[in-house]
Amino acid sequence: MSKKSFVFNDPIKGHYQTQWQAPSNIALVKYWGKHGQQLPQNPSISFTLSQCVTTTAVSFSPRQTGETAFDFLFEQKKQPAFHPKIQQFLERITPYFPALEGHRLSISSQNSFPHSSGIASSASAMAALALCIVDFEKQFHPLWTEEAALQKASFLARLGSGSAARSIAGPLMVWGQSKAFPQSNDHYAIAPAVEWHPIFHDYQDTVLIVDKGQKKVSSTLGHGLMQGHPFAAQRFEQAHSHLEEIKAALTTGDLERFIDLTEAEALTLHAMMMTSNPRFVLMQPNTLALLQKVWDFRAQTDLPLCFTLDAGANVHLLYPRQDRNPIMDFIQKELLVHCQQGQYIEDQVGNGAKKN
Ligand code: DP6
Repeated sequence: MSKKSFVFNDPIKGHYQTQWQAPSNIALVKYWGKHGQQLPQNPSISFTLSQCVTTTAVSFSPRQTGETAFDFLFEQKKQPAFHPKIQQFLERITPYFPALEGHRLSISSQNSFPHSSGIASSASAMAALALCIVDFEKQFHPLWTEEAALQKASFLARLGSGSAARSIAGPLMVWGQSKAFPQSNDHYAIAPAVEWHPIFHDYQDTVLIVDKGQKKVSSTLGHGLMQGHPFAAQRFEQAHSHLEEIKAALTTGDLERFIDLTEAEALTLHAMMMTSNPRFVLMQPNTLALLQKVWDFRAQTDLPLCFTLDAGANVHLLYPRQDRNPIMDFIQKELLVHCQQGQYIEDQVGNGAKKN
């Protein structure tokens, strides 16, 4: 996507108020490694979630001389710790929406999930903010299609946080150029025009909270570890083939293949961190205990329960809705002992962001 294709230079000025809710997402094939201005080293695919969401309201007004560019409330409270990230985001996106400079943004945000749950909120937060900004711009371009506006929102969200590009639509989003998906590209994520097998439309994601703390490795540092990584080239190549293979599993409903690829991706992500310089082990003893129990349960019951991991200790359990009862029973009896204060979050695949 070239910058020119969606930058309008009209002298837009006005007041506007809007509110968007954007979901979190969980990657199946992982984005790990970036270059240039937030461009991925390999394509990724994620399930869009439905319960873990950020709701953001923004009111835009013409900016007076000397006024700050924005103010920000998180859960009704001032949160200066978030200011640098928002400031950087606004600076990065202004070239793509020059009229933004002439406005002051009053931003108020909240998450449906606890801030200190160890669940990354940058994807849903950046997506919700990008959607509010694009919605404002759209008021001045009524002929702009919904599709084009969502593409731009994904493009802008990516500049805030790479994975945020995928927090726009659903049920599955692909970000990064891949042979498997003709429209895919590095600049914004797409919801591929593919008939996914119905079993995945309401797939469950139960997030086991092993560690509620802040991320041990920031994503910027984490992605940087792939620069000069001894296995980088093989990893990026592997992500391309995993994406092609998982597309087949997601369309045919081949759960065995889906599970194999999803768990391979999760452990490869951690293997990359364990073999970088500096190196990190982000799994904890409870993470490993959970993975082993998931494998034992699957071997004993033949139920298609599998896991994926983010760049942290928490475990996402993925399974079909039809198997919810026996799996929830197992989670409650066997797995919650490994969670911090027995905490977990129940979520499932969803259809993307909405205006509210
Ligand atoms: C492990 O999107 O948080 O969750 O672009 O630096 O903001 P930045 O990184 P971020 O990285 C997410 C990495 C991941 C895998 C994934 O979501 O694909």
